[in-house]
Amino acid sequence: MPRIAYVNGRYVDHGEAVVHVEDRGYQFADGVYEVVHLFRNRLIDLEPHLDRLGRSLDELDMAWPIHRSALHVAMREIIRRNRFATGLVYIQVTRGVAPRDHKFPKDVRSSLVMTVRAIPEFLDDMRENGVAVITLEDIRWARRDIKSVSLLPNVLGKQAAAAADVYEAWMYDGEGMVTEGTSSNAWIISGDGVLITRAADHDILQGITRQAILQLAQEMNISFEERSFSVEEAYNAREAFMSNSSHFVTPVTRIDDRVIANGIPGSLSAALHSRYVEFMSEFPKIS
Ligand code: PDD
Repeated sequence: MPRIAYVNGRYVDHGEAVVHVEDRGYQFADGVYEVVHLFRNRLIDLEPHLDRLGRSLDELDMAWPIHRSALHVAMREIIRRNRFATGLVYIQVTRGVAPRDHKFPKDVRSSLVMTVRAIPEFLDDMRENGVAVITLEDIRWARRDIKSVSLLPNVLGKQAAAAADVYEAWMYDGEGMVTEGTSSNAWIISGDGVLITRAADHDILQGITRQAILQLAQEMNISFEERSFSVEEAYNAREAFMSNSSHFVTPVTRIDDRVIANGIPGSLSAALHSRYVEFMSEFPKIS
């Protein structure tokens, strides 16, 4: 069955899904995106993702390409046409197509593109053994809270991680404090069992999974702090993990050349993952 993509109101064969050469996303990275997990026919945290999309659009003075309720319908339709039960829905909005000129074009409709990709339910190896990360300087712009498609520093960081044969790169600011991963939020658990992740300001993306984990931690009576932590503190943590919509809670067992604790995924990370899986099952099935 061919994969189907959505391009500005049309459902087209994925291989033939194209946008115009003068789409501002292509020329200026003038666009925003979301990645929503479709897990066993449930869209996980769809509303918070759409809220964040709205916020990214507002921050860039960009209009919704279609009404939010129409986006709901289109998402369900593209999922229905692709017939995946588990995968990632990618939503991208750009400022639209116009002759290349930096300032905003007038009377141009924003563009909307969506794709769905099947992914395995859980990556057992990652979960059982954890992953390794490297650290590198965060060279991104000052508004990382906007989920912009301008991801070149993230691309370079992830490539550096791949070249080092590890899964992710955690970035640090000018003070040596960890901001986040190139496509994930970063977490540690201190020696005294406190869950720590950086406060959600302009320096990081306010992860939807991050928000859910904080909520679940509260319900589980796990004490947590939203504060910055240094690379050094992470090296000495009791546990470390990363979070995102693609892989939920993923244990980190090595940072640079430092093995975290005894090198096996920690119990609190595992408990949070299990609780997150339960949380996912609470969303309604879409069909
Ligand atoms: N990335 N930080 C960054 C820089 C990210 O790109 C992401 C997500 C996150 C986690 O956010 P959330 O929990 O809402 O997925 C944090 C997506 C998955 C991506 O770019 O593919």
